[in-house]
This record gives sequence, structure tokens and C-alpha cells, in this order.
Amino acid sequence: MPNARVWLIVAIGFVLLGAGLLSWQWYRTPLPPAAVTGTTTSYGVAQVGGPFELVDHHGQTRRDADFRGRYLLVYFGYTFCPDVCPTTLLAMSQALRSLAESDPDLAERVAPLFITVDPERDTVEALAAYVPNFHPDLVALTGSAEQIAAAAKEYRVYYAKVEDDSASDYLMDHSSFIYLMGPDGAYVTHFDHFAQAAKIADGLRRYLES
Ligand code: NI
Repeated sequence: MPNARVWLIVAIGFVLLGAGLLSWQWYRTPLPPAAVTGTTTSYGVAQVGGPFELVDHHGQTRRDADFRGRYLLVYFGYTFCPDVCPTTLLAMSQALRSLAESDPDLAERVAPLFITVDPERDTVEALAAYVPNFHPDLVALTGSAEQIAAAAKEYRVYYAKVEDDSASDYLMDHSSFIYLMGPDGAYVTHFDHFAQAAKIADGLRRYLES
């Protein structure tokens, strides 16, 4: 059946081509060209970010305006998260470390923020115990349920408690992007939670040096 074999090879060719296009698309996503200018844009995802008032892991009140003049890496998650949150925070931390090794001044311009979507369990004390696992500059933020809801709304972050009566601990379902905000507080770009540290560091270099 030579014909069947030819068609099989053609089909495999198409599958490989499709996979190649998909991974190229994936590789390109974190740096949308529209974000480079740094000027105010008024469409779609550029609306991400806005004012918040929260409490950091030292118990200090922190507002978004306190961070003006520095770039922000903002990630929403929770300390009980078994996998995605710690992996993402490690990638963020490693990216900042590698940036600090190659260019300390550049790294100094970036503040990493971790905002909990689980204020019920993520108290100031819980955050204070969690932060040292990652990066000395990491600022973890909590607040009342209303304050967290307001901050999440500004960043278009979805989160919800996963109800499971068979488990003693609950999980949180949440969107998982690392947002890069500019020194003026405006959205610059974002990274997917599966972005590797090297990719985040490359993105930071490109945006901070442009
Ligand atoms: Ni998580």
C-alpha cells in the first residue's frame, strides 16, 4: 500500500509543522510589540493594573504609588499553592538573581511583588515565613478580603476557592500571569506562569534597556 504510506508521511509532516508553529507562537507571546513604547495605551490588556492598598509581610501598609520609579513584577497566588505559585516565584527570583549578576543596576530597578488571593490563610505571619524561600527583595502582600478583591480586579485576576469536602485544606483556583509594570505604574507586558527564569530575565533586559 504505497499510497497509504505517502499519505501517512504527509499527515505526519503537517502535524510537525503545526507543532512547530505552536511552539514558535508560544515562544513569542511574552513580548507583544505594542507594549514597547511605554506610553499610555488605551486598549485591551493595557488596562491591567491600578491602585491598591495592602499590608506587606512586615505588617506595613503599602500602596501601588509607593513603588513609583521602579519596575514591578506582580504575581498573584497563595502560599498553600502546591505547585504553580512556588514554581513561578522561583522563576521570578532566579530571573532577578541572574539579572543582578550581569547588571546589578538593572536588577535594582525591579521590585518583585507577590499578592495573595487567599487572605484568609495568608496572614502577615504566613507571608513572612514564606518570603525567605524566594528572594530577599520579594514583597508579599495581603489584606482584607475586600482589599484583595479590589487589587485583583485592577489586575484582571480571577480567583476562587475550590470547594472539596473530602479535603481538609482547600485549594484556590487562580489566573497565573507575571505582570511587568513600568516605573509610572502602567502595564508593560506579562509573562506566562510557565516562563523559565532565563526567558523572564531576557524580557526584563529588553524592556528595561529599551
Ligand atoms: Ni497557585
